[in-house]
Amino acid sequence: MTYGPSPARKYPLPGQTRLVYLKNIITNPNIIVGDYTYYDDFENPENFERNVLYHFDFIGDKLTIGKFCAIASDVKFIMNGGNHRTDWFTNYPFPVFGQGWEVAMPESWPDKGNTCIGNDVWIGYGATIMPGVRIGDGAIVASQSVVTKSVEPYTVVGGNPAREIRKRFDPQTIEELIKISWWNWDIDKITRNLKLICNGDLKALQAAR
Ligand SMILES: CC(C)(COP(=O)(O)OP(=O)(O)OC[C@H]1O[C@@H](n2cnc3c(N)ncnc32)[C@H](O)[C@@H]1OP(=O)(O)O)[C@@H](O)C(=O)NCCC(=O)NCCS
Repeated sequence: MTYGPSPARKYPLPGQTRLVYLKNIITNPNIIVGDYTYYDDFENPENFERNVLYHFDFIGDKLTIGKFCAIASDVKFIMNGGNHRTDWFTNYPFPVFGQGWEVAMPESWPDKGNTCIGNDVWIGYGATIMPGVRIGDGAIVASQSVVTKSVEPYTVVGGNPAREIRKRFDPQTIEELIKISWWNWDIDKITRNLKLICNGDLKALQAAR
């Protein structure tokens, strides 16, 4: 029996270099990615970290992405370092320049916390995820969306700002899918039950062994 591509491979698609298993190309310790999550890029998928914007070490905010996510080309994550103080009379970040202007250095800059993407999340082409957003397991972000608020599991969102388009399943099914969390099974069990995962029959998935 084979178990699909090894999660340790950089390029899991035979003969193709436009899609990477993301965790194998990440160098920034503040970006944490689970097994099998892929990123596809029209030019060079190894440029992924360029899509994580305003992500400064001195802020230390984290981007966490779960397992088995599908991230399309041009998806951008805006991190906390991109925000200026909006409660000041100026938008201009004077203290950052120093040279006498550091006198205005505030105790804090805006911080909405870490960005956290669940498991089995599909983020469509060109979507932008704003700082501090949490996206639940099994959610879908429509292409070109700007996600400003957290997204519940198994919810499809779209637009700017992204709004709920629909739930993928009824509430009981969603609760059960989260309980099952198939992405945490070992790869042997996942592979053995693949036809049940790539399906919509909850009873059959519940019976998976
Ligand atoms: C989100 C998505 C999966 C929805 O597909 P679907 O279930 O077939 O939905 P529909 O096309 O029937 O559209 C449902 C509603 O969502 C809206 N919608 C669809 N895509 C949208 C988008 N990108 N932004 C905003 N709204 C969107 C539709 O206008 C429609 O609205 P309505 O109910 O008010 O009429 C799909 O539109 C999408 O964005 N896919 C991502 C494609 C992509 O980027 N792939 C990258 C390679 S993996």
